[in-house]
Amino acid sequence: MGRAGGEDPRGASGPVPDPGEDWAVLDRAYAEYLDGNPDPPGGSLLAQTILTGRQRRALLPHLEAARGVDLIDAGTGFAPLLLELAHRDEVRAVGVDGDGRVLAAAASIAGRLSDWLHPRSSARFVQGDLLSLPFADASFDVATVRLVVQHLAEPQRFVGELLRVLRPGASAFVVDVDDGLGLTYPPPSPERAALEEAFDACQAAAGGDRLVGRKLSTYFSSGGFEVAGIELLAEARHVVTAPADASRLLVTSRLAAAREEIVRRGLLAEEEFDRCLAAVANEPASARFRVEGLILLTARRP
Ligand SMILES: C[S@@+](CC[C@H](N)C(=O)[O-])C[C@H]1O[C@@H](n2cnc3c(N)ncnc32)[C@H](O)[C@@H]1O
Repeated sequence: MGRAGGEDPRGASGPVPDPGEDWAVLDRAYAEYLDGNPDPPGGSLLAQTILTGRQRRALLPHLEAARGVDLIDAGTGFAPLLLELAHRDEVRAVGVDGDGRVLAAAASIAGRLSDWLHPRSSARFVQGDLLSLPFADASFDVATVRLVVQHLAEPQRFVGELLRVLRPGASAFVVDVDDGLGLTYPPPSPERAALEEAFDACQAAAGGDRLVGRKLSTYFSSGGFEVAGIELLAEARHVVTAPADASRLLVTSRLAAAREEIVRRGLLAEEEFDRCLAAVANEPASARFRVEGLILLTARRP
C-alpha cells in the first residue's frame, strides 16, 4: 500500500462520508480478525487496511456504481473497498488477488459481514494473476483498482487484461500514488529518509513504481480505454506521532519486514539499517505538516 513512512489517520482531515456506526461494523470485523490472527498473512497490509479506513472511504463519493452490476476489484487484498461498495450498493463483486492466504482471510471476513452487506449484494474471491486474469472476456461492468498498479512490473499488460474482461461501456476506477505530490515539513530525520529511500528502491527493483499516478492516464488511453476523468485527491494533515502509536508501529514493522531484502540488495548494511530503524522507533513525539496526493482515474471501455 503506501510507502513505509505512510499515513497517520489521526491527522486526517477533510470531508469524510458517512463516518457513523455503519463503517464501525467493518472496522470491527477487521480488528477482530487481527485479534484472532496476530500474525496475519500479507505482512502489514491488514494493519494498514485498518489504519487507512477514513482515507479510503473518502473515495466513495467519487466511485459511482449502478445497481446490480458485476464488479471486479483487482488486487483486492483484504477487500476493504469491495466490501464498502457491496455495503453501499447492490453489486455482484469479485475480488481477485495473487495472495491466496490474504484472499482466504478476506473471504472469512466477508462471510462474517454477510448481514451487513446490501441484501442483494454478493462477494466472492478468486486467486489469480492480474497480468493474466482468470475470467472470460466481457465479464464485468465496473472495475476498481486501488493502490495496485504501483506494484505491477508490467502495468500495460494489466491494462490490456482489464480491457478484455470489461464489457463495452464499463467503467474502471483506478487510484494510485505519486510521491512527487508529497510534501512534508519539517523534513524527515536523516535515518528515516535513508530507510524510506531504501524501501522505495526495493519496490522499484521489484518492478514497482511510486510515481505511477502521473502515468495512469497514458497507460489506460494507450491501452484502449477512454479517459473519462482524472482527479487529484490531495489531503493536507497535521500529523502527530509518538513512539507507541499504531501508525508509528506500522511504519517500523513495514521497514523491519523489508530488512532482509534491503540488506540483500546492498541498499543499506545490516548495522546501518538497525541503527536507522532504532532511531525511527525512538523518535520523540513529533508533529509534522504533511500533504499526500493520490490520482484517481476514471476510464471507460469503448
Ligand atoms: C497494496 S495492496 C492493495 C489492496 C487493496 N486494493 C486495498 O485497497 O486495500 C496490493 C495488492 O495487490 C496484489 N497484487 C500485486 N501484484 C499482483 C499480481 N500480479 N497479481 C495479483 N495480485 C497482485 C497484492 O497481493 C496485494 O494484495
